[in-house]
Amino acid sequence: MGERVKDKVAIVIGAGSVGPGWGNGKAAAVLYAREGAKVMAVDVNISAAEETKAIIDSEGGECIVGQADVSRAEDVESIIKRTQEHFGCIDILHNNVGILSVGGAVELTEEAWDHEFSVNIKSMFLSCKYVLPVMESQGRGSIINISSTAAVRWYGVSYIAYSASKAAVGGITRTVALQYADKGIRCNSVLPGLINTPLVRNSLTSAYADGDVDEMMRIRDGQSPTGKMGTAWDVAHASLFLASDDAAYINGVELLVDGGFTARSA
Ligand SMILES: NC(=O)c1ccc[n+]([C@@H]2O[C@H](COP(=O)([O-])OP(=O)(O)OC[C@H]3O[C@@H](n4cnc5c(N)ncnc54)[C@H](O)[C@@H]3O)[C@@H](O)[C@H]2O)c1
Repeated sequence: MGERVKDKVAIVIGAGSVGPGWGNGKAAAVLYAREGAKVMAVDVNISAAEETKAIIDSEGGECIVGQADVSRAEDVESIIKRTQEHFGCIDILHNNVGILSVGGAVELTEEAWDHEFSVNIKSMFLSCKYVLPVMESQGRGSIINISSTAAVRWYGVSYIAYSASKAAVGGITRTVALQYADKGIRCNSVLPGLINTPLVRNSLTSAYADGDVDEMMRIRDGQSPTGKMGTAWDVAHASLFLASDDAAYINGVELLVDGGFTARSA
């Protein structure tokens, strides 16, 4: 057990994983707990959040779970209220939820566009809306918004609502960061690149190699300058740094976690 966020309270939204293995949110929740934080693990799928809690419990950490569809204001308000009531404060808000539908402007339906914007970006607006007054009253807090390098680069596959909603994360991050900079609150985003998580197998298979998952993984490894996709732990460690006091003077940044992908195509 480390102490990088010792005794801080972290709320991780999207703390489960859509499939077996380590998603970014699950790894972040477990890492915050390993580094001493008390964690509220939130997910629309309560059994996914329970799985994360079971890992944290088994390692001697502290975790409670909450069910919420993060695109619904009443759900978000209620889990933030519960976290504050249970732990007494909220130091870290980690916005991990993100969904992806393959399709460009012609192929994607209007309903899919609206849904993706609700889940990927309205969710961040809502969690900030309810958590910022709590952080302001404490005079401290760190918000981590999980974006994507798809916000700033083309990866060879059209997922227009995903790219556009992730680009909007930068706007939320900068606005919150600057409005609250003199109130002890920092807001930063992390832009993961090609990461090997269950989300990729779940959402992207149709866009690669006629649905051949192993081939898709080979292609994505090959697209990375390092020859290998990153892991959920790479994203979690970057988030831990931003959440911790080590990053006390880091505010409003977009931290690339992509093995150099963005630099190569700058
Ligand atoms: N894997 C990659 O290559 C990659 C690359 C760049 C960015 N990202 C970003 O990382 C984040 C997700 O990573 P992950 O691996 O943890 O994904 P994941 O799909 O495993 O999602 C984590 C959890 O979010 C939950 N969730 C989905 N919709 C929800 C909702 N409406 N309300 C509450 N919870 C909801 C799911 O049930 C799941 O347990 C996303 O923001 C994604 O855009 C991933």
